Amino acid sequence: MAELKEARVPDIGGHGDVPVIELLVKPGDVVSKDQGLVTLESDKATMEVPSPFAGVIKELKVKLGDAVSEGGLVAIIEASDGASVPAAAETAPAPATAPSVPAAPAPAAAAPAPVAPAMIESGAPVPARAPVAEPGQPGIPPMRFEADAVLPAKVPYASPAVRLFARELGVDLLQVTGSERGGRISKLDVQNFVKTALAGGVSAPAATGAGNGLNLLPWPKVDFAKFGAVDSKPLSRIQKISGANLARNWAMIPHVTQFDEADITALEELRVAFNAENAKAIAAGKTGKLTMLAFLIKVCVVALQKFPTFNASLDGDNLVLKQYFHIGFAADTPNGLVVPVLRDADRKGVAQIAIEMSELAALARDGKLKPEQMQGGCFTISSLGGIGGTKFTPIINAPEVAILGVSKSEIKPVWDGKAFQPRLMLPLSLSYDHRVIDGAAAARFTTYLGQLLADLRRAML
Ligand code: COA
Repeated sequence: MAELKEARVPDIGGHGDVPVIELLVKPGDVVSKDQGLVTLESDKATMEVPSPFAGVIKELKVKLGDAVSEGGLVAIIEASDGASVPAAAETAPAPATAPSVPAAPAPAAAAPAPVAPAMIESGAPVPARAPVAEPGQPGIPPMRFEADAVLPAKVPYASPAVRLFARELGVDLLQVTGSERGGRISKLDVQNFVKTALAGGVSAPAATGAGNGLNLLPWPKVDFAKFGAVDSKPLSRIQKISGANLARNWAMIPHVTQFDEADITALEELRVAFNAENAKAIAAGKTGKLTMLAFLIKVCVVALQKFPTFNASLDGDNLVLKQYFHIGFAADTPNGLVVPVLRDADRKGVAQIAIEMSELAALARDGKLKPEQMQGGCFTISSLGGIGGTKFTPIINAPEVAILGVSKSEIKPVWDGKAFQPRLMLPLSLSYDHRVIDGAAAARFTTYLGQLLADLRRAML
């Protein structure tokens, strides 16, 4: 038989007189167990009061602006038959503002995550819902609300309901400018963001918290069928996510691209000779087939060690200089572009790098890369050398500050002071964030890369 029961404020980590800033239900609403009833906001965080049982809201005992503390009566609920009725105080509020929340849509466990290192550094990619403990779920202790622990300084200011809404739409709240008091993000802000994005005018994220709408013209709306036959195909999930990140990176980072060419004649001879000498061991999986990209990763690490500002990220007014060398490489997959990250490349030899790269590339192609295999990159290499082209302008993988594009090597006549010599030249395209790296440093970096590639012995100097 249905029974009237009280829903009270659970343990909210010692906070008292916390204002109610949002009513998530109204009388007559049917609620499920743990569904948010109201949103509270302390001076540091927002949190939802979950319904301790399923049923129908008979009466809300709080209104907007009321201040409540642990044990305060929130609602009278006509509990459904058989509903469990835990003591309200035992039920913790959902960790509504958990750091993982402001993520772009999370990749399914088996799906490769998008290029999106920006998401990574701002909280994504993350498994969609896995890390969020369900209050009351067997085996998972109730979570106490610890605002300081769960709220890093840069979490966007929004209620859990708005976060959930954003998550469902795949909106990264870090990119949304809040219009409410104190920059708080409302549901309408999220809706407007999506409308702008759909119109092609995604506004750039607030790296410094300042408003940053780009005020772009809406995307041209054209009836293509008017001009001829067309076929419409939805973008893949990876394309949608990486597209949003690429657009953000392109719009926010002042890119400059430095072009150069490296003489890899000797290196290619070494690579071919090693692979020929070790053909049997390579076939047996005892060593890796050396690829040009594996050498490039190795020489980039040596260059990053010499030029530490390339192995850095901007964090507000600080430049974070990394002491580790995790190198991402763009991999083309049937579902779109992903960037697996090869960890600790400074501690590995070229053959080991080649083995790990080929494993990561295979996982990427099969859509089996784990989120952590795409996180923590310091610098990215994008090689189109196996396909063709002379040069291109790669887009920096924020929050990294530089990316190296590599195009197809070609035999070219190079003047040695007396005569033209046929040399195998590798085109390099280094895009860099001009806020961090100046042109002279970029030219020094590519020149050094060229010297290393021309003569690997220099790496030991
Ligand atoms: N110049 C000339 N030939 C090159 C070359 C270069 N710079 N780089 C590679 N090649 C050759 C290789 O030697 C190989 O030939 P081989 O089989 O005779 O030895 C062939 O091209 C194929 O190489 P590839 O499959 O590209 O292997 P890789 O180790 O160079 O790269 C990946 C591996 C995963 C990076 C690559 O498959 C890939 O996905 N590239 C696309 C990246 C991308 O889309 N970037 C754009 C981002 S905007």
